[in-house]
Amino acid sequence: MNGKFITFEGIDGSGKSTQLKMLADLLRRQGLDIVVTREPGGTALGRALRAAFLETSETVSPLAELLAFAADRAQHVECLIKPSLDEGKIVISDRYADATFAYQGAGRGFPEEKVLQVIDLATGGLKPGLTLFFDIEVDEAIRRMATRDEVYAKRNRMDNETTDFYRRVRASYLGIASREPERFKIIDGAGNVELIHRDVVDIVTDFLG
Ligand code: ADP
Ligand code: TYD
Repeated sequence: MNGKFITFEGIDGSGKSTQLKMLADLLRRQGLDIVVTREPGGTALGRALRAAFLETSETVSPLAELLAFAADRAQHVECLIKPSLDEGKIVISDRYADATFAYQGAGRGFPEEKVLQVIDLATGGLKPGLTLFFDIEVDEAIRRMATRDEVYAKRNRMDNETTDFYRRVRASYLGIASREPERFKIIDGAGNVELIHRDVVDIVTDFLG
């Protein structure tokens, strides 16, 4: 695998999708061969799982949710991420395994060890070389989600979670940052879109060499 694997993480409403699009546009203009993808829903099977799990009004068992994200990821790694990296491409994914660690681990309360086992099974140990974590206060993220809902009607089941849930998820992400500072970079997501973009470009340029 001689490609490069970059992931974007953050609580819902942190601005990561906005920043991913801006980065992808720039890298494409520079002529780089990039694959932009997302979790859940980076493959056809993943999109079906995404609709089934995020857009249902049925009460979803936390274990089923954990395994659904894992199934989405297994298909994503095997059918899109690994083949693209093997071809030497740059793969950028809007969310990956750290989201399961933070949302299903800290958010839903599954023990860390169990979550890590599921992640390892789904990914075969494939980790990103660089992860950008867009950090934002939970209250600000909730305000942004409310605006986004009106504009794009982009609501999903997770958007109904409580402030406490998102605080646990954010704290869990920050814990990863302190354990893996080389891979997992914190970006202040509270400022102006263009300034954040500059931070993103600096870090990614450094990583890509
Ligand atoms: P995410 O993908 O992390 O859920 P989005 O990129 O969809 O977040 O952004 C959520 C909402 O916040 C969108 O309406 C977007 O236009 C807005 N937004 C994104 N970045 C910023 C920013 N830096 N400042 C203010 N609003 C932002
Ligand atoms: P999405 O609409 O992609 O939200 P966003 O644009 O904010 O990423 O919805 C994905 C939701 O699924 C989001 O609330 C995070 C959640 N999620 C998990 O709980 N675990 C996971 O492993 C992944 C990949 C996502």
